Amino acid sequence: MRRIRVAVSFAVFVGLLLARPAATQIPDKFTNLKVLPKDIKKQELVSIMRNFAGSLNVRCIHCHKGDDPADLSKVDFASDEKQTKQIARAMMKMTQGINTTLKTDLTPIRQQSFDVTCYTCHHGNRLPETLEHALTAELATEGVDSTVALYRSLRADFYGRAAYDFGEWSLVSVAENLSRDPAQAGAAIALLNENLVHYPESAGTYARLGETYLVKGDTTTAMTQFDKATALAPDDPWLKRRVERLKGKK
Ligand code: HEC
Ligand code: HEC
Repeated sequence: MRRIRVAVSFAVFVGLLLARPAATQIPDKFTNLKVLPKDIKKQELVSIMRNFAGSLNVRCIHCHKGDDPADLSKVDFASDEKQTKQIARAMMKMTQGINTTLKTDLTPIRQQSFDVTCYTCHHGNRLPETLEHALTAELATEGVDSTVALYRSLRADFYGRAAYDFGEWSLVSVAENLSRDPAQAGAAIALLNENLVHYPESAGTYARLGETYLVKGDTTTAMTQFDKATALAPDDPWLKRRVERLKGKK
């Protein structure tokens, strides 16, 4: 039961962080509700809407037809014109579906289940995505300098908020996808060096640097990187075998 209360109070907290639109600017009667109960109290509807906005880190007019986020009196809340509102409605149904599954299928097994909310996936992000996805997309269109800059700015905004995984492996796995292609080795090395700024003791990052320098054809630098990896993780069986094989080759 404790987990339910934690999830709910956190969602409410997020809503409170937002600038509160004047409730008087919001209509008292609702004419186009298709998922929420038609007789829902205004206070309850507004609190749900604030949670939507807080969970996605957007203003009301991200979903509702209107131009001025500060003046809600001119917003046409009932209109379904914006695609984001239609998506949000589909998301509401999807979230309800997940919670029904959790309750009907899992409660008998787990004794307790807690509700999935918009925040469970969105974490203050308009479009939930993994860090790898965001970086790979940036790399494809803007290049490696921009990708490192994006990593830093997302880290500054989201670190510790569970929206993106800033653990040891995100940059390594983006680099790994690049490092098989000699033309991309430079970009992979830049990303791995950025990872060492945050994880200076990461044996896996040095090992991946080693693999990347091999692809580039720079065996000497590669072996230096493998030596650094081995110094940090002398007992790693995979690393041991890899280095033995490479030294045997020479
Ligand atoms: C993520 C998208 C999203 C955001 C952000 C959002 N809403 Fe909504 N809103 C919806 C959806 C979807 C509905 C329709 C729900 C339904 O069909 O049951 C709705 C319905 C409403 C309605 C009822 C309109 C009617 O007459 O049927 C009001 C009023 C409203 N929202 C106010 C707000 C306010 C105020 C904010 C900002 C605090 C806000 N909304 C933020 C998606 C959003
Ligand atoms: C199970 C995970 C999950 C849950 C729960 C969830 N969403 Fe989403 N949402 C997503 C994903 C993933 C996307 C991005 C889809 C895409 O790439 O087009 C998304 C996209 C959206 C978008 C489009 C944003 C834009 O600007 O294009 C809106 C609006 C939205 N969600 C609203 C909601 C609301 C409101 C809730 C809660 C009622 C919710 N979502 C719950 C996963 C989720």
